[in-house]
Amino acid sequence: MPVRIQSLRGGATIKTNRQAGSLEPIETASIDELQGIQLERMQQSVRHAYTRVAPYRLKCEALGVTPDDLQSLSDIAKFPFTTKGDLRDNYPFGLTAVPMEDVVRIHASSGTTGKPTVVTYTRQDIDHWADLVARCIRASGGTRKDMLHVSYGYGLFTGGLGAHYGAERLGCAVIPMGGGQTAKQIQLIQDFKPSIIMITPSYMLNVIDEMERQGIDPRETSLKVGIFGAEPWTNSMRQEIESRLGIDALDIYGLSEVGGPGVANEYIESKSGPTIWEDHYYPEIIDPETGKVLPEGEYGELVITTLTREALPMIRYRTRDLTRLLPPDFGPMRRMDKITGRSDDMLIIRGVNMFPSQIEEILLGIDGLSPHYQLLVERQASMDTLSVFVETRELQDATTMARLRTELGRKIKSLVGLSSTIELSGPGTIERSEGKARRVVDKRPALS
Ligand code: DLL
Repeated sequence: MPVRIQSLRGGATIKTNRQAGSLEPIETASIDELQGIQLERMQQSVRHAYTRVAPYRLKCEALGVTPDDLQSLSDIAKFPFTTKGDLRDNYPFGLTAVPMEDVVRIHASSGTTGKPTVVTYTRQDIDHWADLVARCIRASGGTRKDMLHVSYGYGLFTGGLGAHYGAERLGCAVIPMGGGQTAKQIQLIQDFKPSIIMITPSYMLNVIDEMERQGIDPRETSLKVGIFGAEPWTNSMRQEIESRLGIDALDIYGLSEVGGPGVANEYIESKSGPTIWEDHYYPEIIDPETGKVLPEGEYGELVITTLTREALPMIRYRTRDLTRLLPPDFGPMRRMDKITGRSDDMLIIRGVNMFPSQIEEILLGIDGLSPHYQLLVERQASMDTLSVFVETRELQDATTMARLRTELGRKIKSLVGLSSTIELSGPGTIERSEGKARRVVDKRPALS
């Protein structure tokens, strides 16, 4: 029976075919109920970090705040941030708030430089994580009757095991394929006939290309839903994947430091940006330069306070991800806009700020260009240069190549404001992803 649920914060009303009972009570609770739960959990979480994590207590003392200063949700802005640097400085377990004998899992994210950031979990943390990823799959339209193929990497990366536990919690039949072995991925999809896939969007494209190379029509597979995340992807990329694979493509967001995938997920009825599971994660948007909290609806850096994590409570963790908060589709929990990029991925070239996702949006709007691209930034005679490497969808004659090159260069100049060198090549020439795509190669010397 279709259920119409009114948004409580003035967002769009969406119509869902779900039975009311297939949503968790918190998904349709009132704002007051949610905020009551949030405040109680936030007070516990801040107190837990303050009393059990010496480096965080020192930061609080430097600012002159104690857990008693947290009387309302907005009081969180009085507390110090936690950064990736804090995790690195206290490597490996210095921010862990429970005795190591209570830790049952350790993940780590490699990062590009230095030591990995280490994330610890208690049994209850794993339990909550599984519940939340199960909620993500349900929001994506999944039920216990689905077979779910996991192509996120297993191991220290949180994607594989995070998806796995959530899918099992929901009661799906899980295929723990992991990343890589593209031919095998396709064989299992053909033979086992899963209805849902969890995979990075860039690796999905790689798999679709390989299917086509093998003469398989991707639209004919059993897949109905894809749950994509772990890297930025645009709405144009969503359309590309949906039309080539004949599925619904949903956005899942998360990061290792606050637990992994499952911080937020889109509802299949709206696909309007991931709903943040605010009963476990409290979001703020700050100005990345000044650290000040911005009014709701403005773009800035997402900051997350974990409300239920035992092993690694993160108070005001600076994600570096740039987005804005949006009103809920329904119920009390707010959405985040699709992430435009990370502040550390922002390229500043000859004074112009840009994100790889802007180039993705532009080239997907040009007929004949594929979504496989990479940006090369170099410095020649103290001048920064941008080269955009893109594949055409098919082999093209010289005249068409020249026309496409000119069109892309002109659009980048007018929409981003940068002159660039366009390097077009035929299908299959650009590095393929089996996980997170490497969109930028920056060869400029590091600033000392
Ligand atoms: O990527 C966790 C994850 C796994 C999320 C599987 C979703 C699916 P990390 O390796 O720590 O954890 O990387 C986290 O990836 O700060 C974002 O910059 C980016 N990211 C994750 N999800 C999205 C998304 C996992 N849906 C970093 N859209 C985050 C855009 C995303 N960027």
